[in-house]
Amino acid sequence: MNPSQNKPQRVVITGGASGIGLATAQAFLDEGARVGIISRSPQSLDKALHGPLSQYQDGRCHGIVADVADEAAMANAFKEFDTLLQGIDTVVASAGIEGEMGNAVQDVTSKDFLRVLEVNVLGVFHAVKHALPFLAEQQHASITIIGSDSGFVAVPGMLAYNASKGALVQLTRALSFELFEAHGIRVNSVCPSIVDTPMARRGLGVESFDDAEFPVNTPSDIAGTVLFLSGEGSRAINGANILSDFGYSARSSFPA
Ligand SMILES: NC(=O)c1ccc[n+]([C@@H]2O[C@H](COP(=O)([O-])OP(=O)(O)OC[C@H]3O[C@@H](n4cnc5c(N)ncnc54)[C@H](OP(=O)(O)O)[C@@H]3O)[C@@H](O)[C@H]2O)c1
Repeated sequence: MNPSQNKPQRVVITGGASGIGLATAQAFLDEGARVGIISRSPQSLDKALHGPLSQYQDGRCHGIVADVADEAAMANAFKEFDTLLQGIDTVVASAGIEGEMGNAVQDVTSKDFLRVLEVNVLGVFHAVKHALPFLAEQQHASITIIGSDSGFVAVPGMLAYNASKGALVQLTRALSFELFEAHGIRVNSVCPSIVDTPMARRGLGVESFDDAEFPVNTPSDIAGTVLFLSGEGSRAINGANILSDFGYSARSSFPA
């Protein structure tokens, strides 16, 4: 069975101009969906719309520039997408930042810590809050949050990032029962280990992961899981934080 059979049709993706969000946009468009992308910078959005997304020139793909941390901008973006897409039944919250990397606790600045929480946690809350009036009008609506394995196993030198992704694990759970009971909306998250995206290349200072000595997700690995979680084939899955980490976090420290 096609995992996204019958839906989703009208999808809003935050951070949809790059990396995981972009691969997810392409995967939904390939399935025939209408897609709205929220991106922070006009340059990124332009690059995606005139690059990889230019093959979908049939009016199914739209973009709006908004900072997910800006509540008013997010409220406007969802209103506009509801009109452009003729409804919204699926939301994917992928926008995120890595913040400062490699800093010991005493060197982490409050400003950076707060900004990571604003984008990675408050930004997801804004997406959910302002999508809700539109999702609630639909049957079988769903929200998928892009978390991280850093919600479960901490990466050294990424204090704020680890904290933000830990928060998303519990935000997913808290939203899942509230929105399912009130509106039939499912909320899940995908929590990848490293994914080959501009964020990961930038953060690790590499141009490719071809020689990596550890397993690396592709953006389309994550997009495939998002499509599954958004479709009716996963209708009983709600409140799940699904690790996509090749099983690394499942292993005991016992050396057997
Ligand atoms: N890559 C990994 O190894 C990895 C692993 C686990 C989890 N994740 C998570 O996956 C998600 C996507 O990351 P990615 O690797 O695909 O990164 P990416 O290639 O940098 O893409 C992130 C996208 O989010 C957008 N964005 C950032 N801050 C924003 C804001 N305040 N408002 C609106 N849009 C904003 C960026 O826009 P601009 O282009 O304008 O900056 C960019 O288009 C993040 O939540 C990240 O934490 C990534």
